[in-house]
Amino acid sequence: MNLAPDNQPAQSLADRLISEIRTRPNHAWSEDELARTLGVDKASLGEALQTAIEWGYRIDHGGGKVRFISPPDLLTSTEIGCGLKTRFLGKSVLAYRSVKSTNDIALGLAEDGQTEGTLITAEQQTAGRGRFGRDWKSPPQTGIYMSLILRPNFPPDQAPALSLVAALAVAESIEQHCPGQVAVKWPNDVLIDRKKVAGILTELATDNSKIKHVVVGIGINVNQTNEDFPSDLRHKATSIRIALKEKIDRVALIQSILERFEPAYLEYQETRLQSMLTRLRAYSSLIGKKVKLDQGGEIIEAEALDIAPDGGLIVRGKAGTVTVHAGEVSIVEDEK
Ligand code: BTN
Repeated sequence: MNLAPDNQPAQSLADRLISEIRTRPNHAWSEDELARTLGVDKASLGEALQTAIEWGYRIDHGGGKVRFISPPDLLTSTEIGCGLKTRFLGKSVLAYRSVKSTNDIALGLAEDGQTEGTLITAEQQTAGRGRFGRDWKSPPQTGIYMSLILRPNFPPDQAPALSLVAALAVAESIEQHCPGQVAVKWPNDVLIDRKKVAGILTELATDNSKIKHVVVGIGINVNQTNEDFPSDLRHKATSIRIALKEKIDRVALIQSILERFEPAYLEYQETRLQSMLTRLRAYSSLIGKKVKLDQGGEIIEAEALDIAPDGGLIVRGKAGTVTVHAGEVSIVEDEK
């Protein structure tokens, strides 16, 4: 289950038990059959069942029968790994209860040689970080706070566009729940009905102008209610639950993001954004809009024209048509 700072790579018997019984949710296993399948005696099986129930799994256990009912509403390595259809993303999961920032943990582990694709999640962050040194509100058990360790083979200046690649994977996954309501705000935000629902923070470490590792941190407001947001954020932040009026399964959302991001990341290494441009344009909240660009304190007014193949934003302003690669953008009409 691994919901602790100390990740144990060896799967416990309780983990194996859960993986086995959740593949057949309505099946009433006999204790004998289950013990045989797991290759253990009935006493060990009993202990593993007890452990799983303590973790929050609902399991019917009586009269010599065992039936899986439901998992706990927790991000655990067992749950995230169960049925995950990826080759390497999320194949190793470190799931924490509470950390300062999953990006900090990921950067530290990457420095220590942790394999590519390792996923760090937390139920809560006490010092979640956003872009421009802002904080990322990370209350317990409502949102998704996750970071991926990547070791791409491109030069460092190509790394920032990974935020856009990740934003597309997040947008397409959220779109499954809220069709027609989702947009990507260049370069790293996902919106529902023009309010921010997710943000990406991509950070990298280099050595001699080469990437050592990249950490893509993803924060998503999933099951927060309006009251969970501080009042000064309510006009510009939302959650999937607010849009949908019901809670959604955070584990399934993480799996969907990993399954979309993996092929997109591999494609990006081969052909950059080429195959994603059409989808990025379709999701863009900025194209065709009058925008204000904050370029390190210099404010530029312009019209957003397109997403460039290198991930920049093409805008037409007083200085003509240029491609910008960083900065904060706001839509001018939004500010009336
Ligand atoms: C932004 O919109 O400014 C980016 C927000 C990124 C937040 C995520 S939550 C998981 C990961 N850990 C962090 O400290 N930040 C990112």
